[in-house]
Amino acid sequence: MKIDVITIFPGILEGPFKESMIKRAADQGVVEINLVDLRDYTHDQHRQVDDYPYGGGYGMVLKPEPLFEAVEDLNNRSGSANPRVILLTPQGRRFDQHLARELAEIEHMILICGRYEGVDERVRTALVDEEISIGDFVLTGGELAAAVVVDAVVRLLPGVLAEEASADESFTEPLLEYPHYTRPSVYRDMEVPPVLLSGNHGEIARWRRRQSLQRTLEKRPDLLEKADLLPEERIYLEDLKKKQS
Ligand code: ADE
Repeated sequence: MKIDVITIFPGILEGPFKESMIKRAADQGVVEINLVDLRDYTHDQHRQVDDYPYGGGYGMVLKPEPLFEAVEDLNNRSGSANPRVILLTPQGRRFDQHLARELAEIEHMILICGRYEGVDERVRTALVDEEISIGDFVLTGGELAAAVVVDAVVRLLPGVLAEEASADESFTEPLLEYPHYTRPSVYRDMEVPPVLLSGNHGEIARWRRRQSLQRTLEKRPDLLEKADLLPEERIYLEDLKKKQS
């Protein structure tokens, strides 16, 4: 997979992509991530990327020309026929694990980090395929949102994680993960649940599933509506609900 990230602050993103799993994926050739400085696509002495809004008002707006030229250049240099152009903005579709999985199938994506008060509307209407938001809050720019999207997508690429790791975790199916423990088995009088030390894999799997159900009921009951549950699991949840009330 190839990911180009267009930004006026490449420095913000250098750190996150140079560490840990993303770095390993890049070193292994699973992903190629390019930070593209939008100012490289300006033609004036001041390398101006923004301007005052027509009609007046607060703040600056990212100009269309450098963004169009950057995307067109990256398009021309792409080996892939149709790179997906994504704008990070609080107005976009909410990012979640489903969208991460969808993006993980793409050969080449171009992420545009919005800044200032906004981006010229013609970028949205004529350049961008999709707008993505990482949540209902406003960041100073799209860079941290791009880091979140890249992280969530790259870890899903084949060979980056052990297969079981991504299959087993929260949001693969819409239940929260069960609790995890490691050594020591007793820490400050807090004990690891004995079933996990029992070596009985059937019992352990059952306990974990029930813990997942219980946690989801407590923290994200909305997710249970979408979950594909066995009849006995529904009964278990009904019992829990009765105990709670
Ligand atoms: N830019 C500013 N806020 C954002 C958000 N919540 N998601 C994506 N991009 C953003």
